[in-house]
Amino acid sequence: MEKNKKIVWGNSHSIGNKEIDNDHKHIIDIYNQLIDLLEGDHFTSSEFARVLSEMTDYSLRHFQREENYMLNLSYPNYEQHVGFHRDYIYKVAMFNVNLMSSTPPSPQVVLNFLYEWWNFHIMRKDVEYENFKSDNDYKVDY
Ligand SMILES: [Fe+2]
Repeated sequence: MEKNKKIVWGNSHSIGNKEIDNDHKHIIDIYNQLIDLLEGDHFTSSEFARVLSEMTDYSLRHFQREENYMLNLSYPNYEQHVGFHRDYIYKVAMFNVNLMSSTPPSPQVVLNFLYEWWNFHIMRKDVEYENFKSDNDYKVDY
């Protein structure tokens, strides 16, 4: 079995905003819990689905806060960014539904998706609105 990669928080994950970084750290913590669960002795797909939906619930609240923040910044790529969030929500919701079906996706497939998505999104997309904010010297709280 291919070993899943935990995400270890580092400077490259910081977008330069402490509150948003804390949200992202929490999401990464839950992702790492999914790996512990999969590699531990007590794995069940229903427990995996439960933790994944916990991650989804938190991600939804985080996206909501982030979207409000981008609106307050009048961020020009708001619509595109929200589109990324919507794609994620749809994809993870489908994983969750299918995990309880008779043909569940492999947990590795789910974890690979989460790994790629969050790393790319935080380091390449979220950092863009924060750079926009500092380039324009906007004072907007998250
Ligand atoms: Fe985002």
